[in-house]
Amino acid sequence: MLGRDKAALLWKRIDIIGDIAVIKKPIHGGVSIEDLRLVAGELLRRLPHVRSVWLATGPVGGLFKVRRDLLHLAGEKRTSTVYREHGAEFLVDISKVFITPRLSFEHLRVARLVKPGETVVNMFAGVGVFSIIIALKSRPSKVYSIDINPDAYRLMIENIRLNRVEDVVEPMLGDSARIVSESLRGVADRVLMPLPDLALDYIGHALDALRGRGWLHVYLHVDYERGKGHLRRACKLVEAEVERRGWRVVEAKARVVRSVGPKLLQVVVDAVVRRDG
Ligand SMILES: C[S@@+](CC[C@H](N)C(=O)[O-])C[C@H]1O[C@@H](n2cnc3c(N)ncnc32)[C@H](O)[C@@H]1O
Repeated sequence: MLGRDKAALLWKRIDIIGDIAVIKKPIHGGVSIEDLRLVAGELLRRLPHVRSVWLATGPVGGLFKVRRDLLHLAGEKRTSTVYREHGAEFLVDISKVFITPRLSFEHLRVARLVKPGETVVNMFAGVGVFSIIIALKSRPSKVYSIDINPDAYRLMIENIRLNRVEDVVEPMLGDSARIVSESLRGVADRVLMPLPDLALDYIGHALDALRGRGWLHVYLHVDYERGKGHLRRACKLVEAEVERRGWRVVEAKARVVRSVGPKLLQVVVDAVVRRDG
């Protein structure tokens, strides 16, 4: 039997994606593979909708933000599944694309900010979760949904069909900087940048996509220190990038999206910006 402490530690590190459970390996706590196999068997017994259990031995990585380090623990040896969120369905493959249930609240929060008739550019769309939920919950005229990972793009096309939003969501394959500069200049009312690694570097391209005034949703990682104003710091980082490109931040607000490591937070800055002059 696992001790209470180990069980509590592991429970917080389980993500359920469709009928697949992924256990993120604890960094500390002396949990062995045998412990993890025990937990995996227990998960299959207690959660009948879970059919397959995998261990993620490290964080998502690389350009595509994918788990390349999955180890099968129990149940069916399968990485494809159907993930459901806010009434939408998504075909995913946990070994080939980024997917997490931990952004579920954020997907709906942003969708609810979108006003009827808006044009949205999603610069890092993955399998299309933000884009499709926006199309289903709000009434945008268009969502340009870009990803550089061919597997994410292929699944995004299937997900657009599956959720019947072909008229609204346009999948695009490639580097979002290149796609914006070649075909999406000055089209958008709102730009989503859900990739902390690149968001600040790509702000110039996000501004190019806007009509002259609009919303940016910039996802960042910031160090957390109690009382050290991490949200204010995130807003300042975005403001600096916007202003050095001759644009102005009209208003900006940041919120914590989730914790992503010891003393490391993912935050989002929602900013209204306009071109100066
Ligand atoms: C964190 S994931 C996106 C998550 C997705 N928005 C969601 O909510 O499920 C970041 C995505 O950005 C893509 N990506 C990385 N660099 C890119 C680039 N230069 N242009 C477009 N997409 C890129 C990756 O392939 C990955 O799918």
